[in-house]
Amino acid sequence: MRRPLMISIIAMIVLLYGGAIAVGLHVKNLRHLTQYPNNMARNESFQRLAWTPPSTIPGGKLGDSIRRGQAIFNETPLFASHFAGAKVSCANCHAEGGIQPFASGVVGVGATFPQFNQRAGHVISLEDRIQECFVRSENGKPLDYKGPEMRAIVDYITWLSTPEPGRKPYIGRGLVKIADLTPDPVRGKAIYAAQCAGCHGENGEGEPHVFPPLWGPDSFNDGAGMHGVKKMAAFVQHNMPQNRMGMLTAQEAYDVSAYIHEQPRPAFNLVYKNF
Ligand code: HEC
Ligand code: HEC
Repeated sequence: MRRPLMISIIAMIVLLYGGAIAVGLHVKNLRHLTQYPNNMARNESFQRLAWTPPSTIPGGKLGDSIRRGQAIFNETPLFASHFAGAKVSCANCHAEGGIQPFASGVVGVGATFPQFNQRAGHVISLEDRIQECFVRSENGKPLDYKGPEMRAIVDYITWLSTPEPGRKPYIGRGLVKIADLTPDPVRGKAIYAAQCAGCHGENGEGEPHVFPPLWGPDSFNDGAGMHGVKKMAAFVQHNMPQNRMGMLTAQEAYDVSAYIHEQPRPAFNLVYKNF
């Protein structure tokens, strides 16, 4: 047999095996999900969703830009690979493409800018806020302010927020309010193993494109909005575990967030401290 042919066949076999293993892992994960009692389907939270995105995307250049923004928002490391350092997408925190209530939704957020930003100490634009999430939550680099990626994300958020006749106003801005509690990371470790590791991995590594990492080199950095036990607890209490949203008490959400905060993650690059 000719050598190049042999090599191609071996490569094919390796690929097929790799694919089979990847699919196997997926199946294992998904099977795990169906084992939960009182499995609170995601659909239930959808039924509570008061907001639906506009029914159509306009044509032409604007439509292309909106679609690009949507792709970047949902798969940031793939569609803004030059700028994202983490293997985390905007929609991993701003869930359901930015419309899920109490998951820092971005519907109508454009109208709240320019606004005073405590972290920056001055008034910032929506573009500045997006940069913040790039250099902190994405552990990446700032976008070109006038570049197509920035335009696309702003166009997507603007489109998502477009009012349509008869639609209820958007509810659930920001995160749920949560009391100040004293967390116990030891209890949090047990909660993590029982309720979170099935999707996010025993070592918080997640699974690319399916489940975001929660710590380690591919996660958000320690300057991110999600970094902080109280902030993460508020996110987790309402939104996690993703397939049984709302099952954790505030105390449990604190405990598991404290455990996650004991694990290593990238340091914020101070070169970008003005973002
Ligand atoms: C690791 C989680 C995480 C990721 C990833 C993330 N964000 Fe955020 N983002 C947050 C949190 C948390 C807040 C709210 C921060 C606060 O309240 O201090 C926020 C706030 C925002 C806001 C302002 C919302 C408001 O109500 O004022 C915008 C706009 C935004 N993010 C856009 C993005 C975009 C675009 C991306 C992707 C490039 C992204 N974010 C990625 C966690 C994240
Ligand atoms: C069924 C799978 C699943 C389980 C179980 C689960 N998560 Fe998640 N988690 C996700 C997905 C998917 C996302 C992305 C946002 C979304 O789609 O809701 C996410 C996002 C997150 C985020 C924000 C993204 C980031 O990078 O930080 C945090 C924090 C988080 N989960 C913590 C937890 C904790 C703590 C638990 C256990 C109490 C948990 N998750 C259980 C699937 C899961």
